[in-house]
Amino acid sequence: PRAWRGIIEEYRDRLPVTPETPVITLREGGTPLLHADHLSQLTGCDVHLKVEGANPTGSFKDRGMTVAISRAVGEGSQVVICASTGNTSASAAAYAARAGLTCAVLVPSGKIALGKLAQALVHGARLLQVSGSFDDCLRVARELADTFPVTLVNSVNPHRLEGQKTAAFEIVEALGQAPDVHCLPVGNAGNITAYWRGYVEEDTRVGSGRPRMFGFQAAGAAPIVRGEVVTAPQTIATAIRIGNPASWDFATDARDASGGLIDAVNDRQILAAYRLLARREGVFVEPSSAASVAGLLAAHADGRLDAGQRVVCTVTGNGLKDPDWAISGAAKPETIPPTVAGAAQALGLRNL
Ligand code: F0G
Repeated sequence: PRAWRGIIEEYRDRLPVTPETPVITLREGGTPLLHADHLSQLTGCDVHLKVEGANPTGSFKDRGMTVAISRAVGEGSQVVICASTGNTSASAAAYAARAGLTCAVLVPSGKIALGKLAQALVHGARLLQVSGSFDDCLRVARELADTFPVTLVNSVNPHRLEGQKTAAFEIVEALGQAPDVHCLPVGNAGNITAYWRGYVEEDTRVGSGRPRMFGFQAAGAAPIVRGEVVTAPQTIATAIRIGNPASWDFATDARDASGGLIDAVNDRQILAAYRLLARREGVFVEPSSAASVAGLLAAHADGRLDAGQRVVCTVTGNGLKDPDWAISGAAKPETIPPTVAGAAQALGLRNL
């Protein structure tokens, strides 16, 4: 076994890089595909989790960012900019720091998780809190990049989706073929687009098959499900609090071409899946990430999943990014004296 080299070196011939492109990497990708015993039991399916919180900055964004930042450096860019609900900004800030670029990020004021804010700040990004939604941030970032000499590294930058498609390659390699169904949270709709491209590309290359793509938006931020822009999206899943996804048409194409669906899950379902993942599977994700699993459970309950199917759920981000939800839903820690008796009493332990 050799060391994982990051997605550009692992998949160089399938990414938009040349031998001259400088490689800015934190050795992203190569994340675990975990069998989910409890979820498999609940659904009668063979369920696996693609644990993207194991990436260097704690989310799947690193796969796209290594390509976008490498290309930006190769093209002589000195400043990169993005709009973000938190994870893109954390990833852009880290890769820009490594490349020696200036990074500016626009985030919706008061609506991003504390850990993500900390990441952007510690890596030295210029953090602008916008009194508006993510959709406002993206509109401003796009116009800035049209007007000034700055490179936009949102997923409307095509190099981002190219990098993100590599997760599908890893899944096919681990399973020996594509799964029957792939479940994902949907926000700006870039990731579902990227996975579908990855599966199609791999199927064209080696005949690995194609899954049905199941995407899940938060009920208060479900423009694709409703078929109209949501001007004031609301959900506790702040990473996917998006009312006008940039890759909307690509996502509906992926849904239709794969025979899949895009549906909504409410915050209660998201938090239930979030706790189940932590308590039963040992996987701590951020709330938005649990939308894929909430969707899986809802699809099972509605009879839309056949028993025995092989399902992969991507869990997109690490739970430590947003600890508030972990603490608010858990039992309060007790304070005890520094004695064995005190600890034993608090735990209800008895002598043998
Ligand atoms: N899960 C997490 C943890 C995310 O951060 C995002 C998107 C998604 C799912 C949805 O992916 O946008 O490709 O459909 N976060 C972006 C950001 C918007 O700015 O970090 P998508």
